[in-house]
Amino acid sequence: MRHLTHFDERIDSLAFVPTMGALHEGHLALIRKARELSANVLVSVYVNPTQFESHDDLAKYPKTLERDLELAVSAGADFLWTPSVTEIYPEGLANVNLIEAGVIGDLYEGRSRPNHFSGVLTVISRLFAITEPRYAIFGEKDFQQLFLIRRFAQKAFPKVEIVSGETVRDRSGIALSSRNSRLSSTELQIAEVLPRAREKVVGATTLQFLRASLLEVLSAQSGFRLDYVEVVNPSTLLPVADDYSGRVQVLIAGWIGSVRMIDNFPIELRGSV
Ligand code: PAJ
Repeated sequence: MRHLTHFDERIDSLAFVPTMGALHEGHLALIRKARELSANVLVSVYVNPTQFESHDDLAKYPKTLERDLELAVSAGADFLWTPSVTEIYPEGLANVNLIEAGVIGDLYEGRSRPNHFSGVLTVISRLFAITEPRYAIFGEKDFQQLFLIRRFAQKAFPKVEIVSGETVRDRSGIALSSRNSRLSSTELQIAEVLPRAREKVVGATTLQFLRASLLEVLSAQSGFRLDYVEVVNPSTLLPVADDYSGRVQVLIAGWIGSVRMIDNFPIELRGSV
């Protein structure tokens, strides 16, 4: 495995896993998936300043490069790339022209984090332009991000195939996230409200029942501040109508102390009975 501090390669049929580091099993599952797609697997570790609106959140982002290198190798990475800010944004951070994420970019995560998805699409655009991958692999954990990147890449990078990987969870069902390392053991117990909400609605058939049950669980947990719970059509990411039947995606976000938690899962609705 090679550690690249600057990307100056031409690699055929590259499978690329962009990350912000602090690697965990969720990232490693994506790297293993990349390995199945190609003999050349690249992982980037870059904490992208343009997608953070809070300096505090950016500064607090965990940094564990030595461990990331070991974990990336163990999962099958051939290259680990840690670009500098000037490699990604040669014009300087103050002069970056952000890519618009559109109406969907302003909903859900975007409502609480203005410009977040513009920052994500901008860094993805730079990373793809530099590395010219054949495949790029992203997690379903960040469902809205995956949707927006897929839509953006179809237009701007039609040669790059976007591949998704399932959400990896811990034993209690909490989706793994680099931010979870900021939770105390008591806070981790609070976070179990997310898998509990998911279990509660297994078998829900109508939107009305689904919404009511989710709200009941999520608002009853002390220490969890619900930001939103939305039921959307996975192919448009827009909220579904009351009598909708078919597969929907539940998107949830909330806060435990200063740590933002998100989760999502699919469910099959049968419409009104
Ligand atoms: P980061 O949060 O490091 O996540 C990198 C990739 O790992 C993303 O595609 C994310 O969806 C995926 N991932 C995170 N947790 C996961 C889990 N529990 N199961 C499966 N996949 C998981 O997302 C970003 O970085 C950044 O926004 C990035 C795309 C790198 C752009 O800066």
